[in-house]
Amino acid sequence: MIKLGLIGFGYWGPNLVRNFSVQKDVLVTAIAEAKLERHVQISKGYPGTLIYTNSSDLINNLEVDAIVVATPVFSHYKLAKEALLAGKHVLLEKPMTSSVDESKELIDIAKKKNLVLMVDHTFLYTGAVQKMKELIDQKQLGKLQYFDSTRINLGLFQPDVNALWDLAPHDISILNYLVNNKPYSVNSTGVSHTNNGIENVAFMTVNYQDDFIAHFNCSWTSPVKVRSTLIGGDSKMLVYNDLEPSEKIRVYDTGYYHSSDEEKNKIMVDYRTGDVFIPKLSTQEALYGVALDFIESILYSKVPLANAEIGLEVVKVLEASQKSIKNKGKEIII
Ligand SMILES: NC(=O)c1ccc[n+]([C@@H]2O[C@H](COP(=O)([O-])OP(=O)(O)OC[C@H]3O[C@@H](n4cnc5c(N)ncnc54)[C@H](O)[C@@H]3O)[C@@H](O)[C@H]2O)c1
Repeated sequence: MIKLGLIGFGYWGPNLVRNFSVQKDVLVTAIAEAKLERHVQISKGYPGTLIYTNSSDLINNLEVDAIVVATPVFSHYKLAKEALLAGKHVLLEKPMTSSVDESKELIDIAKKKNLVLMVDHTFLYTGAVQKMKELIDQKQLGKLQYFDSTRINLGLFQPDVNALWDLAPHDISILNYLVNNKPYSVNSTGVSHTNNGIENVAFMTVNYQDDFIAHFNCSWTSPVKVRSTLIGGDSKMLVYNDLEPSEKIRVYDTGYYHSSDEEKNKIMVDYRTGDVFIPKLSTQEALYGVALDFIESILYSKVPLANAEIGLEVVKVLEASQKSIKNKGKEIII
């Protein structure tokens, strides 16, 4: 039985506690939440669970084996480091930390102490992403050419991170997971319409050393909510609409053939449109999979799917995007 503690019972923390509470080898022993008004909610939902105001009291509880950190991004590094040094396995919310150096240091500590360090890249555990991985690995789309994601809505303005840091971690983790290709560089642009230097609209292009390309559109200031990704291959193309209740993925047997007319120096393109295929997806809640993977990784010494190296790769792209935005879209090598 693993005794688990959670730090941060705000918006996302309750979802984590709910999913850990139903795992068979886990006891949610303690929750630390700085805001006293949230304590009533905890004791109502989880009577018998120890409640702390100070996270260090939870981290120093010798009974606790593993800690989930669901606090704002800037605090991830400090809390995870304290927990790892106290000998606890750690599941960190996404994005892993605010900088590449911080993520690397946490990975080093976890390795030295032989502890599991995992990042909640929830989307990797969805039926949709698992199905896309299967289709791509089976080469059903052919050679991948582009990944184009849009994650926009009238969203909550974050006080500490821009729209890319807030919204793109999911899509970057999906991109890195699906595409067996290492990102080379980033060009990002964005603007702050609130004059606080925190971009509420941002665009990022991730370049590769071959002709694959990825693009991200993130915004808190869109009148409509869009959560969609296009993935193009040279034999089929896929549309992933996360707002669809069940038919989230459509695979289009659509493509083109091209040949060049050397005399006229023109490209001749023939288009092909065929059937649309809607695969059946697993409906298991993704966070249930996250919780199960964390627990099994501790119990059976296995490497989780959303391991710390995956978390670090996401932070590398975000950090490069930040440099690029502040340098008017300059290409930054990752
Ligand atoms: N995986 C996902 O899909 C997903 C979705 C939403 C949020 N998140 C992530 O979850 C994290 C938290 O986001 P949120 O929206 O729940 O934030 P939030 O502000 O609603 O909640 C954070 C809570 O942590 C508490 N807290 C902060 N520092 C603390 C400390 N040292 N000790 C005790 N309590 C402390 C705050 O009082 C607050 O209640 C972020 O990293 C965010 O990116 C992930």
